[in-house]
Amino acid sequence: MTVTIRRAGPGDAATVHGLMRALAEQQGHPDAVTATAADLAAALRRPDVTYLLAERDGRPVGYVSWLERISFWSGDDYLALDDLFVVDAARGQGVGERLMRAAAEIAKGRVIRWEVGEANAGARRFYERMGAQLTSKQICRWQPS
Ligand SMILES: CC(C)(COP(=O)(O)OP(=O)(O)OC[C@H]1O[C@@H](n2cnc3c(N)ncnc32)[C@H](O)[C@@H]1OP(=O)(O)O)[C@@H](O)C(=O)NCCC(=O)NCCS
Repeated sequence: MTVTIRRAGPGDAATVHGLMRALAEQQGHPDAVTATAADLAAALRRPDVTYLLAERDGRPVGYVSWLERISFWSGDDYLALDDLFVVDAARGQGVGERLMRAAAEIAKGRVIRWEVGEANAGARRFYERMGAQLTSKQICRWQPS
C-alpha cells in the first residue's frame, strides 16, 4: 500500500473538513469545527495557508496544516503548524512522520512551530523522537467585547 502526500486545493475542502471533524471529535470537542467546507475552500485559496493531505490507495488518511508567519524579533518567516492528524487505522506506520518531513521539505530551512497539549503524551514522544524541542507556555485567548 502506497501513501502519497500532496497539497490540498479548494476541491478537497470536504475531505479536509471531514478529517478536521474526526480530529476534533477524538480530542473531545466534537462541535469545535465551526468552519464549513465552503469556509475551508476559501482558506485553501490563501497563499499563506497550506494543507498537505496523506492518501493511501487514494483514500485520505491524514493531514498537516500550517500558516506562514513572520517573527518580528528575528525578521524571519516561519511555519506555524495548525494541525497534524492521522486516522486511527493508519497510525504507527510512519504517515505522521512522512507528513512532518514533507512540511520540513517545504519549509526549506525555516523554523516550524506548533502547540501540543501537555497530556498528549503520544504526540509529545513522537515530536521529541523527530528532534523537536518542547517548551511550556500558557496559551491565552481573549475575545474582547
Ligand atoms: C501524533 C500522530 C500524528 C502520529 O502519527 P503516526 O502516523 O501514528 O506517526 P508515526 O507512525 O510516524 O509514528 C508513530 C509514533 O507516533 C506516536 N503516537 C502517538 N499517538 C499514537 C497512536 N494513537 N498510535 C500509534 N502511535 C502514536 C508514538 O510515539 C509512535 O511512536 P512509537 O512507534 O515509538 O510508539 C497521530 O498519532 C495522531 O494523529 N494523533 C492524534 C492527533 C494528535 O495528537 N496530533 C498532534 C496534535 S499536536
